[in-house]
Amino acid sequence: MERFCLFRSVLLACCLVSGASVMVHTAKHSMCKSCGPQPARSRAHYCYPDCNVSKVCPNPEDICAAAWWREAGIVTMETMCHNPARPLYSVTLKDYSSADCLLISKHVAGRNLRVCACTGDDCNERVLLAKLSIEEEMTLPFKLRKICRFCDIESTTCNATGVCDSACNITSICESPNEVCVGVWRRNEGISFVETVCHDVAFPFYGQYLTDYNSSTCVLKPVKGMEDEFYMCSCNAEECNDKLIFGLRATEDKRTSLLVLLVSLVPLLVVVVLLASCFYTCRVLRQQKLKVSKHKTKGMDSETCAIFSNDDDHSDSSSAKANNLNHNNELLPIQLDSVVGKGRFAEVYRAKLKQGLMSAGEAFQTVAVKIFPYEEYASWKNEWEIFSDSELRHDNILHFLTAEDRKAERQYWLITAYHERGNLQDFLSKHVVSWEELCRLGVSLARGVAHLHSDQTACGLAKVPIVHRDLKSSNILVKTDLTCCLCDFGLSLRLDNAMSPDELANSGQVGTARYMAPEVLESRIDLENIESFKQADVYSMALVLWEITSRCSAIGDVREYEPPFGKLREHPCVESMKDDVIRDRLRPEIPASWSQHTGVQFVSSAIEECWDHDPEARLTAHCVVERFDDIISAVILPISSEPKSPEDSGNDDK
Ligand code: ADE
Repeated sequence: MERFCLFRSVLLACCLVSGASVMVHTAKHSMCKSCGPQPARSRAHYCYPDCNVSKVCPNPEDICAAAWWREAGIVTMETMCHNPARPLYSVTLKDYSSADCLLISKHVAGRNLRVCACTGDDCNERVLLAKLSIEEEMTLPFKLRKICRFCDIESTTCNATGVCDSACNITSICESPNEVCVGVWRRNEGISFVETVCHDVAFPFYGQYLTDYNSSTCVLKPVKGMEDEFYMCSCNAEECNDKLIFGLRATEDKRTSLLVLLVSLVPLLVVVVLLASCFYTCRVLRQQKLKVSKHKTKGMDSETCAIFSNDDDHSDSSSAKANNLNHNNELLPIQLDSVVGKGRFAEVYRAKLKQGLMSAGEAFQTVAVKIFPYEEYASWKNEWEIFSDSELRHDNILHFLTAEDRKAERQYWLITAYHERGNLQDFLSKHVVSWEELCRLGVSLARGVAHLHSDQTACGLAKVPIVHRDLKSSNILVKTDLTCCLCDFGLSLRLDNAMSPDELANSGQVGTARYMAPEVLESRIDLENIESFKQADVYSMALVLWEITSRCSAIGDVREYEPPFGKLREHPCVESMKDDVIRDRLRPEIPASWSQHTGVQFVSSAIEECWDHDPEARLTAHCVVERFDDIISAVILPISSEPKSPEDSGNDDK
């Protein structure tokens, strides 16, 4: 026993000695990121070189260092081991004991070069653009220090018209987070000067408090009461005082103001006239269309113009009336009934709204309430933001009423129209559909998707295109008139120009594996091209169109409802979908019987064109609407208003 203990102590001692020797060894040589010049990404105060090469430094005295520069707007970084006794890009590194690599400026030949050094393994894998105070650290990434042009006063050839370049090639990180970029143009005895600086908004500048610093551009305005001709602007975007944008010249002020007023009124008048005529035309068209649809196609979908959002179709139990957040002190009087749906992030309830758009005698209006627990704030906010776009209003998109922050229950609510027929998947499980119903459901689905994707409303007003990214039959509701409306926009994306590269990069693979397009399954979607997101939606829509068609009695015996690619209760994962959809190029079966009905045959070919492996070869949703319109006018068949249950699935539509 004693010998065993002795052996253990010797072993322990050996371990300690060897461990210590390893520690001594690693402490002597730093390990640093070591990549040559390469493009870098900035996020909040930091910049990342995307370098995955780490090297053990050759000399024990070496520390980690980095160089950062911007040329013609492109940020480049270089990382390396460095002996601090030597200058780096002619900068002598003094403070390198910190674990943060804090950049210090050096203006080498207008390159806006900065260098930094730090101590600690791979501490140069990111660099800090500005030293952070403790409060800033806590509020990261919200409190950014500005990066502004800072040349103080320089003479200029700019004559205060149009847009002038500051001609300042020194970029500086402002000292405090309260500082913004400021630009001044002044003329004294015929000589013009431009001044570019950072300035704290809490203090006056040339005796004036800055009022326009929330702007992202520097729009110069004349400052009265100065001896010189004097213009000033402030702004808060990176280097925004590089471009000096001139509004009105002080001396020309009075003469031109009337002219400007007149000139600016003309487009306004034109817009008002255009809007009025658009409103009128849409109303006339809509009325005509309603008449035509009643007479000819007996109620085929009408395309609603967004400015008509007030005369929404009230045939369903509720309709949209507001899109703003309902604040805590004015929560709607809503009584929840039962759960009608469960999603990834939220539950949907049927509920009674005891005020608002009720007809005489009605005690309440039925609405749907989607309830998100506080933890799912991001999904609620995303869906709310999508709904808040008034241009989204459309017959085939779920009508949104309002959003609420129910603080007491720690819940977020979205209140929408309620559709008693429920979702399309449940509907198809219980009903077969006639040829006419297939057309109503199909064309309205395509109309909803086309409107979502479109960059304009039916009236030609500009609209941000949106992609759904989780289209499937359980995210589509069936309205009482047997048309579809899209819902569940929790994963949707607004394809506006303001999307940052990070947002785009994070938008690769989302949705439900069963309905994912091949390029989404492979995460090979072209993130730079907004059309590619729409093409992925069209693929999912094709699967839904197939589901509807598979329950159509016009093609003979109708099989039990099955979702695309297999059984209802199963949830195939991305890997197994990849095997089916990419390796084996499988698609849901289109039986030979579908070609026995001219209409269904046309629908099948549209479906096949929509689920093409090549995203570019797919039809657009708008094109699918046109195909349906052509099919409907070519194949006029008897119409039945009530869908049949499986028991009464006669083939009388054939
Ligand atoms: N399920 C999910 N949303 C719904 C709604 N708005 N109406 C009816 N059922 C739903």
